[in-house]
Amino acid sequence: MTVIRHLGHAGFVVEHAGLRILIDPWFHPAFLDAWFPYPDNRPLLPEVVGGRYDYLYVSHTHEDHFDERLLGQLSREVTVLVPRYRSQSLRRRLARMGFGQQVLLGHRESHRLGPDAVATVYLDTSHKEDSGLLLDLGGYRFLDLNDCNTPLSELPSGIDLLAAQYSGAMWYPNAYRYPPGEMARKTAAVRADLLDTLVRKVRLTGARAYLPSAGPACFLDPELDRFNDRAATIFPHWEDVAGEFAAACPEVEVVRTAPGDTVDAPSAPGSWATDQPGYLAAYRERRRDEWEAYHRGPEPEIGTAEVAGHFDRLQRLNRPLLDGYRQGLRLEADGAAWGVGLGELAERVELEDEPVDPGYTIRVPPRALRAVLDGRAGWEEALLSMRLTLHRDPDVFDLTLLSLLRYGHQPAQTRQLVRERKGAGDAVVERDGLRFQRYCPHAGEDLAHAEVADGVIECPRHHWRWDARTGRCLSGGTLPLRVEPAAATPDEPLLEPTLEGPVR
Ligand code: FES
Repeated sequence: MTVIRHLGHAGFVVEHAGLRILIDPWFHPAFLDAWFPYPDNRPLLPEVVGGRYDYLYVSHTHEDHFDERLLGQLSREVTVLVPRYRSQSLRRRLARMGFGQQVLLGHRESHRLGPDAVATVYLDTSHKEDSGLLLDLGGYRFLDLNDCNTPLSELPSGIDLLAAQYSGAMWYPNAYRYPPGEMARKTAAVRADLLDTLVRKVRLTGARAYLPSAGPACFLDPELDRFNDRAATIFPHWEDVAGEFAAACPEVEVVRTAPGDTVDAPSAPGSWATDQPGYLAAYRERRRDEWEAYHRGPEPEIGTAEVAGHFDRLQRLNRPLLDGYRQGLRLEADGAAWGVGLGELAERVELEDEPVDPGYTIRVPPRALRAVLDGRAGWEEALLSMRLTLHRDPDVFDLTLLSLLRYGHQPAQTRQLVRERKGAGDAVVERDGLRFQRYCPHAGEDLAHAEVADGVIECPRHHWRWDARTGRCLSGGTLPLRVEPAAATPDEPLLEPTLEGPVR
């Protein structure tokens, strides 16, 4: 007998033949006290903390999956299934917390949990560190992909139940400064991408049933209330996309669960507390202490020397990533502004009327900047908090800058990004008369699933597009693709691509 209980967001308790597996339990505010589980799952906290588990699985280090306050209350007797990431960050953090029994699993590596129970980890094999878990329980196959993007060609098939993200978990585009029309267009494009990716995952895994999970969160700090607008952001409710999903996957059963529901007995439609008027306002009051924590204490002071020191260190740690790179970044923090020269201008930080010409501007509240400078949060967490506002000119995604900020404190990830750019493994795909690099230069998607039509190659994940003749990036970003006619001798190197790219 297998029972799968949804704890809300990406959290589950799975029971099978006496085994109990706890997955990604999230209960406390994340990302500078900005994100809260939605719907509220706090009533489940005592029984989750008091429960007995044979295995714990934490998919990655994002705070809506790695809830340190919750994990700190669990028995350290549990065995943890740990995805084997290059950075070792997840493994070390769990070890520091006293979780000494760890089973490290690389991409598609399995571990037997019981006589008829096997767990297999699926990684995002790019520089990103994220994972999903396949549980084969007496032949019943539950695939929890949460918000992980394993290359489409590497996904398992024959899935009975798929749990995966349908709503966004990213600051683009809603944290950027765009005019309303532009924002609406970009938001619609991201939402369409999210649904398209979900439909592909469902089809490729052959999922018989789908459980919407891993978002959206909600924002209880009144300063962030605009991000609860499900129509105007990339954070829709399932009901906002259910019709489109049903049209695309009419044969797939949707299992809509509230926190605490089991998969075989979900709540009746319309019975959710969230359907009641004033739900969010009442939730905000219940958690006032928690979201107000961000605002407590005097406004912090920020000095130019420490901003300079921070970026100096970040750049020293990531020299290969910044090889040949130059970008100006302007940081604005409540009246103060710094121009940071990155790359060849390394270590140069000027106050206020800086001569650095910024391609990116980030407005960051001093409290958030203080948390980053003190190492209490990384730029990734600060950006996810939606407390920062970004602007870029030209309006082009800069993978190097964003990777420096997001992963720079873990250079294992940026080194992998450099390898990906150089065409790690030199794997290629041959199709439609073309031979092109197999893994997407943006985030490593397998381009064996790319659309190739009318002289354009399009990645199935975020839909970057390249000229099939020159490899020039036509939309999405600036990174080129190595491509040549398939008739070329395989021993010959692929053409060096054109290095220019247009506005996204
Ligand atoms: S992985 Fe993002 S466009 Fe290919």
